[in-house]
Amino acid sequence: MARPTPHYPLFDRLFRHSVAVDLGTANTLIYTDNGGIVLNEPSVVAFQKEPAAGQKRVAAVGTEARQLLGRAPRNVEAVRPMRHGVIANFSAAEQMIRQFVDMARPRPLFSRRAAFTVCVPAGATEVERRAIKEAAVAAGAWKVSLIGESLASAFGAGLPVSEAIGSMVVDIGGGTTEVGVISLGGLAYSGSIRVGGDSFDMAIVSYVRNLYGVLLGEQTAEHVKKGIGSAVRDVPVEHMNATGRSVDDGLPRTVQLSNHDIADAIEGPLRQVIGAVKRALETAPAELVTDIAHSGIVLTGGGALLGNLSRRLTNELGLDVRVADEPLTCAVRGAGAAVAAGLLDDCAYE
Ligand SMILES: Nc1ncnc2c1ncn2[C@@H]1O[C@H](COP(=O)(O)OP(=O)(O)OP(=O)(O)O)[C@@H](O)[C@H]1O
Ligand SMILES: [Mg+2]
Repeated sequence: MARPTPHYPLFDRLFRHSVAVDLGTANTLIYTDNGGIVLNEPSVVAFQKEPAAGQKRVAAVGTEARQLLGRAPRNVEAVRPMRHGVIANFSAAEQMIRQFVDMARPRPLFSRRAAFTVCVPAGATEVERRAIKEAAVAAGAWKVSLIGESLASAFGAGLPVSEAIGSMVVDIGGGTTEVGVISLGGLAYSGSIRVGGDSFDMAIVSYVRNLYGVLLGEQTAEHVKKGIGSAVRDVPVEHMNATGRSVDDGLPRTVQLSNHDIADAIEGPLRQVIGAVKRALETAPAELVTDIAHSGIVLTGGGALLGNLSRRLTNELGLDVRVADEPLTCAVRGAGAAVAAGLLDDCAYE
């Protein structure tokens, strides 16, 4: 069905352009049709508390704000406004997006009012979708469309999305894992669980506390996960030191962790990810699953970089599993490409 032609002021028609935004739990990326990826920053904003006025002012955003997580002085508060792919703190999210749009905007006047296409998890509720749209409008968008994150990731990973062949993409982000089966430019199946890289970090924190009596910060846990994290145990042992606080005496203590420790620690959330993929294979239309048996599964999102993940999934599912090129940027590049190519139908494009 053809979409009605919208009526916009002449200025907008002359200067409008489209911007794709991946407003992720861990990272926010902005892609423009003429500049490619123009912003790639952690989804963190820090506020300076001004007790006199009882107000908060943005002190830092992105990488700079991330460095303040868990380290901020008393008058500064660092916040991650996104949780499980949706807005958890509206005013912080709005201010963060506004700052990011300002940072990404090369020509303030002409690019001021762009049409935004924002990636959302399939599991986002109506209220959560509306909040994302409102935050984007507040940041200067004249129109906001949403695209399912797994569909965007499939485009970005170069899968044959428009063909009558089933493809499966599994996007493992910081807060969600999205499983999508795509055919003929749309999602034939989509599943979303609120488990992702953050869950792995938290699992490492609780494992080290229980086994070694040391409380690690989440960023330290993430650092170890990226360094020696493994989804399987049958690999040569590697070690990495991590420093936290002893639960006995509260003093700093360093523990030596192995990749086997990390594999044990993350087994719970990893099983949930594997379960979500198995559910998709059981539930998606049989013909498409037959296609996937031939073409395999593609992993995107930062979680796809976990050591030996594709091997683990191949072992569990008996299917070919590979990691996409540049998995961290697939969703935003795909959202931009899908819009530019006019490939989205009304079901996928709200
Ligand atoms: N080398 C690595 N090994 C393991 N995990 C990694 C690696 N690099 C990044 N990650 C994890 O990837 C996650 C971030 O991925 P990504 O940027 O795709 O998430 P997001 O899009 O912000 O989140 P979501 O899609 O859930 O809203 C983090 O949890 C991070 O720890
Ligand atoms: Mg993501």
